Amino acid sequence: MPLTLTHDVLLKERTTLRLGGPALAEAVVSCEAGLDELAKLLHGLGGRPLALGAGSNILATDGPHALVLVRAANNAAPSFHAQPNAMSPEATPGATPGATPDTVIVRAGAGMGLPRLLGHCQRAGLTGLEGLTGVPGRVGGGVAMNAGSYGVELCRLLSRVRLWTPESGLVWRDAHDCAFGYRRFDPQLGSGLGAGFWVVWEAEFALRADESPAVRRRMETAYARKKATQPVTARSAGCVFKNPAGLTAGMSAGRLLDEVGLKGRRLGGMSFSPLHANFLINEGGGTAAEALELMEYGRAMVFDRFSLNLETEVKVLS
Ligand code: EPU
Repeated sequence: MPLTLTHDVLLKERTTLRLGGPALAEAVVSCEAGLDELAKLLHGLGGRPLALGAGSNILATDGPHALVLVRAANNAAPSFHAQPNAMSPEATPGATPGATPDTVIVRAGAGMGLPRLLGHCQRAGLTGLEGLTGVPGRVGGGVAMNAGSYGVELCRLLSRVRLWTPESGLVWRDAHDCAFGYRRFDPQLGSGLGAGFWVVWEAEFALRADESPAVRRRMETAYARKKATQPVTARSAGCVFKNPAGLTAGMSAGRLLDEVGLKGRRLGGMSFSPLHANFLINEGGGTAAEALELMEYGRAMVFDRFSLNLETEVKVLS
């Protein structure tokens, strides 16, 4: 089936924080043929389309949502391609900036989980992504949010990305035509390509050849560090606040929340993690109203004590 449509899906069943009321429908697209159907369907269903991957960075409110969830389910094994003309990328239009003779282009579908992609790259002896070990998202969401961890930002490794829009269908965008920053990606489509809804369909990353065991060791190190400092197996959406710009080394939103005593602070079924204060955890039966109240409380405490405004990092659907 190129496209599967389900009505009245619960966002709490589609997000790692396990919060959120019903959306109008969910369209799961498993191959390119399904994208043609999707254009017609979005037109007929009404509501607003929302691209959703693993739902690992989303806080959805409890009420009903006039949304059609669009999920790319293209998750075949990635393919690997030698970088053409990698010897002289500067002299070769279209070559990946910074490419070297050992650069390999990895193409992966948006529906592939980042952990699986990292596993394939490790077995293929490719380095670059190891810092993202333990990040639970998919390729599509990872690019759309510029997922980052331990100095690695997914969009910095991006060579090009293939997006789908209802107006233009599938289009490739070179990474250097896109803008990205801290947890932010903008394909800069412009009105010619449809400046509204877009969804990542697949992406290519420029990685470098390395010894497979060395890649595995770095992944193990990153995961051990993450597991010791973040609640990796809890029901969470990762960090809820961005780290404010200009903090001194070692300071972070988590540390600020920790210093005002919020580690482990609970409201109903939600709490700030006892391990890392910038993670909200659904202990079971939590609600979005509780999560938002805790966030406001944390924001106010940090502002009172440090005169710093914490900006929300998690994507709030209301
Ligand atoms: N810290 C505390 N108390 C806490 C939490 C942290 O004192 O409750 C201290 C730590 O000891 C450390 C500093 O704050 O000295 C920074 O903490 P950490 O290394 O855990 O990193 P972070 O700045 O809190 C960021 C990203 C994470 C990413 C890690 C690793 C943000 C908002 N968070 O966390 O990303 O995994 O670095 O690179 O940018 C996410 O995007 O959802 C996320 C979790």
